Amino acid sequence: MKILVLGSGAREHAIVLALTSAGADHEVLAAPGNAGIARDATLVDVDMMDPGAVTEYAQSQAVDLVVIGPEAPLVAGVADSLRERGIPVFGPGKQAAQLEGSKAFAKRIMENANVPTGRAAHTRTIDETAAALDEFGAPYVVKADGLAAGKGVIVTEDRAAALEHASTYLPHGPVLVEEFLSGPEVSLFFLSDGDTVRPLAPAQDFKRALDGDRGPNTGGMGAYSPLPWLTDGFGSVEAFVDEVTRTVAEPVIRELDRDGTPFIGLLYAGLILTEQGVRVIEFNARFGDPETQIVLPRLETPLAELLMASANGTLEDHAAPAFSDEVAVTVVLASEGYPAATVTGREISGLDEAEQVDGVHITHAATANQDGRLITTGGRVLNVVGTGSTFAEARERAYAAIGLIRLEGGQFRSDIAAAVATS
Ligand code: AMP
Ligand code: GLY
Repeated sequence: MKILVLGSGAREHAIVLALTSAGADHEVLAAPGNAGIARDATLVDVDMMDPGAVTEYAQSQAVDLVVIGPEAPLVAGVADSLRERGIPVFGPGKQAAQLEGSKAFAKRIMENANVPTGRAAHTRTIDETAAALDEFGAPYVVKADGLAAGKGVIVTEDRAAALEHASTYLPHGPVLVEEFLSGPEVSLFFLSDGDTVRPLAPAQDFKRALDGDRGPNTGGMGAYSPLPWLTDGFGSVEAFVDEVTRTVAEPVIRELDRDGTPFIGLLYAGLILTEQGVRVIEFNARFGDPETQIVLPRLETPLAELLMASANGTLEDHAAPAFSDEVAVTVVLASEGYPAATVTGREISGLDEAEQVDGVHITHAATANQDGRLITTGGRVLNVVGTGSTFAEARERAYAAIGLIRLEGGQFRSDIAAAVATS
């Protein structure tokens, strides 16, 4: 197959690696890509945000399948445009992508589908917001309604800070005040062809910048999969996945279909396991980052087949995707100043040595080649992925490798998957 992957992060690099892994014989193109993706796919010059340009390109080059990585092209209608021309695409249309693009839309779908989520109020003024905060009590949770690049949510004990956060978003539309939910978080991905859903393996990401879950929220500083501790509450990881498939993914996909907006692509369920049961905190309409970087290396079923079956509406003919027993841990190397004031344009070296470490591979998030040097172009630069038969082994490998990489001011968390490696 000839496959075009849209996006430029480590998530897209992980997708490209899974599409080109041993035994697969696909021609993979990527736009815009990055320096790491360029080693494993052919970079092509097409604006991923322009539905017409992507469609023209895919048609003229006889692309068999387009895989959309990030949310922005989904919300811009790239999938709709491809589908109108009959080009298979993995990624929902503009309307269904509102599941991620609008928290109000997501809440309505969940309510109609009877999916367990936190109680919430949509408020339009500061007074309404204050009343909702007092009704739910501390800790306070306030969310912007639309895409906010990871900055839209505040969870705080400080009522004034909650109101201040609301006041920055209220001029642009309603905000969501939500009941505080407490418990471990799980990311679970589902492939959907609009009708049938197939789960991938659960993962956990680390959103805060600093060790011990301190510091500001980021796009994600690390992740691991699977989650052995799920066995405690659910009997087995499989039982947990089955429950979420039945109570969350299937009802949501059915509801979107009934709504006239079938969801073809990846449904990302962000979950909190509360004492009262599993609750949805958010949906995304695309693969998660950095979870994809540790879920896909464990996938044994060929990814291209699964994505094509989703795009073609034939997922029902495919068994549940199979995963290896190996565990995977990823540690993100970020630039100095990330996330507040990222310094870019610095040279990175030592990658060749790092990639020699047993069980390690590296996906690139924000890199470019400049005059024969590898330089940084953004906040999250690389994902160092360690695999192994135990978490202790996978961690040790990932940290040994990241220690060999040189980047001035580079930062990473030292506690990714630490808790699970000692248990
Ligand atoms: P979101 O952007 O919706 O994923 O939220 C970002 C983070 O805020 C989540 O990963 C949670 O850690 C936290 N969060 C969101 N909603 C809640 C909630 N209702 N209760 C507690 N924490 C929350
Ligand atoms: N890992 C969080 C996200 O992809 O949104």
